[in-house]
Amino acid sequence: MDQKLEHDWCERNKRPILEILQQVLPSRGRLLEIGSGSGQHATFFAEHLPEWTWLPSDVEEKNLASVRAWAAEKQLPNLLEPVSIDVLDAPWNVGPVDALFSSNLIHIAPWSCCLDLMAGAHRHVEAGGLLILYGPFRIAGEHTADSNAAFDKKIRERDARFGVRDLEAVCEAAEGFELLERFEMPANNQVVVLRRLGAFTLFCRWVARRCTVAVLGDSRLQKLNLRFPSMEAKNGQRASQERENQQNETLNQREKEEESRQTGGKGVELACPHPDFLDGN
Ligand SMILES: C[S@@+](CC[C@H](N)C(=O)[O-])C[C@H]1O[C@@H](n2cnc3c(N)ncnc32)[C@H](O)[C@@H]1O
Repeated sequence: MDQKLEHDWCERNKRPILEILQQVLPSRGRLLEIGSGSGQHATFFAEHLPEWTWLPSDVEEKNLASVRAWAAEKQLPNLLEPVSIDVLDAPWNVGPVDALFSSNLIHIAPWSCCLDLMAGAHRHVEAGGLLILYGPFRIAGEHTADSNAAFDKKIRERDARFGVRDLEAVCEAAEGFELLERFEMPANNQVVVLRRLGAFTLFCRWVARRCTVAVLGDSRLQKLNLRFPSMEAKNGQRASQERENQQNETLNQREKEEESRQTGGKGVELACPHPDFLDGN
């Protein structure tokens, strides 16, 4: 039986995403994909980035089977056998990588998945390596399009722990990374590229920050609007966390029991509703 899953949205977004990957990735390296889903992305990107060794992964067995089925069809030497990774289960059983890619995971999962994804990126991405995220994001607390706001509402109704994330909060959670670039993509999605800083850079930034605060003082810095980006992000993260806490409280016992019944006690079912899909383009 063919276990290959095929999603329209992957067919629509794989070329635009590939163009960004070709721009931002160095000529060769090792890449870990988290939440590979069907495997359409993994096979397509591995095929078009032959110098990159692509390691797909997912938490769901049916997705791992689909990745294997796509891989069997393509027979690409640089596409590795997918591994089972639940971002919440550290440590992940993989070595160091030059890049980590994840598409449409952090908004269709509890916030803790985003935090653990960032922690995993911190453990596995080498200094100078990239963390590349694809999906919808809120910028400065605002949705970038009405369709994203509608999508956000829809996924939160489905599970109060889901939701389109604030880019600032995500960057703040990505400890040891700096935001390098952000690309507007079709269907109001974005590709966000973060770079892992080396220990020396982090140390120099820490010293520079301490010196600036010592000379100007924190309150004067704020008056001059010279706050560090990470401080801005912290505010975003706090706001985002507060929203999340409130939403978690709205999950009543009946919903939890229903969830448990549907999934045999394993947690929420993780399918792939997607803004690409909702927009129908
Ligand atoms: C919305 S789908 C996106 C799939 C694919 N990346 C795409 O863009 O079509 C989210 C994926 O994340 C995976 N996922 C959800 N929670 C996860 C977790 N805790 N650890 C690892 N993967 C997870 C799901 O199994 C699913 O494949």
